[in-house]
Amino acid sequence: RKAVSIPGLAAMREQGEKITMLTCYDASFAALMDRCGVEMLLIGDSLGMVCQGHTSTLPVTVADIAYHTASVARGNQKALVVADMPFGSYATPESAFNHAVQLIQAGAHMVKLEGGHWLAPTIQFLTERAIPVCAHLGLTPQSVHQLGGYKVQGKTTAAADLLKAEALAVQAAGASILVLEAIPAALGKEVTEALRIPTIGIGAGVDCSGQVLVMHDLLGVFPGRKARFVKNFMDGQSSIDAAVSAYVAAVKDQSFPAPEHCF
Ligand code: KIV
Ligand code: NA
Repeated sequence: RKAVSIPGLAAMREQGEKITMLTCYDASFAALMDRCGVEMLLIGDSLGMVCQGHTSTLPVTVADIAYHTASVARGNQKALVVADMPFGSYATPESAFNHAVQLIQAGAHMVKLEGGHWLAPTIQFLTERAIPVCAHLGLTPQSVHQLGGYKVQGKTTAAADLLKAEALAVQAAGASILVLEAIPAALGKEVTEALRIPTIGIGAGVDCSGQVLVMHDLLGVFPGRKARFVKNFMDGQSSIDAAVSAYVAAVKDQSFPAPEHCF
């Protein structure tokens, strides 16, 4: 396949082809996911939980993300590599730029940040300086203490209206992709229809432009509590290649997420 690009992802949205994304933290899994046709590999700060054993993503550092990004970039050939900016690394536009440069130099093609209106100047600052941005709204795990736990977001009309306004704000600021986590499926659809950039859902319904899962959840190896939006794609498969291919096929034909994975 051709290398995945930001215009290529925009064209997929335009043509109604669903985009597949998985978290990835090392070179061997990067090579596997790339050959299975996954379009986007995310070095998520979820690595704090699934790799490091912390109970939140808050202890993860820029150096941690850079280390895993470099490993993923060495194993990958064609997928688009997205690196999470960890907690505390994008409090100001200048600080975000300096940390994002480290992640791009480690091999990321794009960085991901959690937040809405307050981030618009930062997103503009990064994209003006040639750093592509993926925004992340809904359940934003770096805000776990403010949110009071890992809870579904956007459930009231006021919260849904605010989320929609934030989605438009991050798009206007220059974000090329928006991740939507743990929101009602109807809101995922509404936000997707209101935007021109692709949306990638995790617990945000089947009408997003694409889907993302944490690879440890997809493989059924994460020992912690299982979120509603998680599906173990190892069920009925005899290899990890087959499980990842089954995930790609299920996202493409829209059999995943099914109603039981949605809010
Ligand atoms: O860190 C992560 O794995 C993420 C995805 C769940 C979107 O941000
Ligand atoms: Na993350």
